Amino acid sequence: MPLTDTLNRSLRDLRISVTDRCNFRCVYCMPKEIFGPDHQFLHRDQILTFEEITRLARIFAAHGVRKIRLTGGEPLVRKDLPDLISMLAEIPDLDLTLTTNGSLLPKHARALKDAGLKRVTVSLDSLDNAIFKSMNDVDFPVEKVIEGMEAAAAVGLDPIKVNMVVKRGLNESSILPMARYFREKGYILRFIEYMDVGHSNGWRMDDVVSAAEIVKMIDAEMPLEPVTPNYQGEVAGRWRYKDGSGEVGMVASVTQAFCRDCNRARITAEGKLYTCLFAVKGHDFRDLLRGGATDDEVSQFIANVWGKRDDRYSELRSENTISLPKVEMSHIGG
Ligand code: GTP
Ligand code: 5AD
Ligand code: SF4
Ligand code: SF4
Repeated sequence: MPLTDTLNRSLRDLRISVTDRCNFRCVYCMPKEIFGPDHQFLHRDQILTFEEITRLARIFAAHGVRKIRLTGGEPLVRKDLPDLISMLAEIPDLDLTLTTNGSLLPKHARALKDAGLKRVTVSLDSLDNAIFKSMNDVDFPVEKVIEGMEAAAAVGLDPIKVNMVVKRGLNESSILPMARYFREKGYILRFIEYMDVGHSNGWRMDDVVSAAEIVKMIDAEMPLEPVTPNYQGEVAGRWRYKDGSGEVGMVASVTQAFCRDCNRARITAEGKLYTCLFAVKGHDFRDLLRGGATDDEVSQFIANVWGKRDDRYSELRSENTISLPKVEMSHIGG
């Protein structure tokens, strides 16, 4: 029997964070003031092993999960990640993918592809080095991220998608140059409304550039029309260039909540199950796994949590929800 939650939503997507570490310090995700040299990241024995992750993934697949996305932090800083990919690739009928900042793709794209990864999504917030560097805050240049995307495309990890978080006052001026560039290149660019994930990024509603505003801006130069979603519950709203030259996506979690069809579960690197990106609390798998639970017991645990799920944070977002003690983006993986 497929699982459904209290709002009749099924479980289709699993996002697994494989590390809470990252080699970038994006201002909207891991601001340096908080994630500085003294920040305590998880220790090796606190994070799930590849065997534990794969065991969980199989049990989730038996519950109907059809897409697994690896996230972080930055997933490619986890040692030997291709080994995990090859273990997960043995699970049948799975869309196996990864969201990365692209910095380590030139080094790892080939091994990831050979291990069975299907495609990648690469984050890039600007083509302007001054702006991009002010956002990643580690002086990382645009060219190296592009190189990463091209390495992924060259080995067939496609379609390549590109994620651009838009934060007012920082990178609105990059919207059109990014749209032009990736339309030309044939990669699917998605604009993401800046979200109030965690509590360290100092989010304010005023910092959000709405998807409607972005569509209007692009449409004025390169006319757009809406396209029906690829599947029910797709995160990014699809827009196509009227001249047939490709499409862009809008992740409008702040201004147009899409909780109604949300079929995503998330596991943090330390093995906590979250049923919402903005959840206050996770459900611990690690002790369950390490305490000798059988597959049936783990499966029942998932069914119990999902059966009680009633999350719809984005629909309920208000001045009051902003200050809730939510999990950090670098823990939950976006
Ligand atoms: P595709 O399979 O390529 O459609 O991937 P995706 O868009 O689901 O994944 P990706 O990791 O690229 O996420 C894009 C953006 O959407 C990120 O900023 C995520 O944090 C955000 N996002 C993904 N799922 C959810 C969700 O369930 N709720 C909210 N609020 N944001 C989400
Ligand atoms: N708001 C919106 N998107 C964010 N991401 C990270 N932090 C935020 C935030 N506060 C994006 C990353 C990556 C994806 C997983 O989430 O840039 O593309
Ligand atoms: Fe790292 Fe991605 Fe967060 Fe940037 S958004 S700090 S690349 S995990
Ligand atoms: Fe799903 Fe929570 Fe995002 Fe709504 S806010 S779409 S329930 S993860």
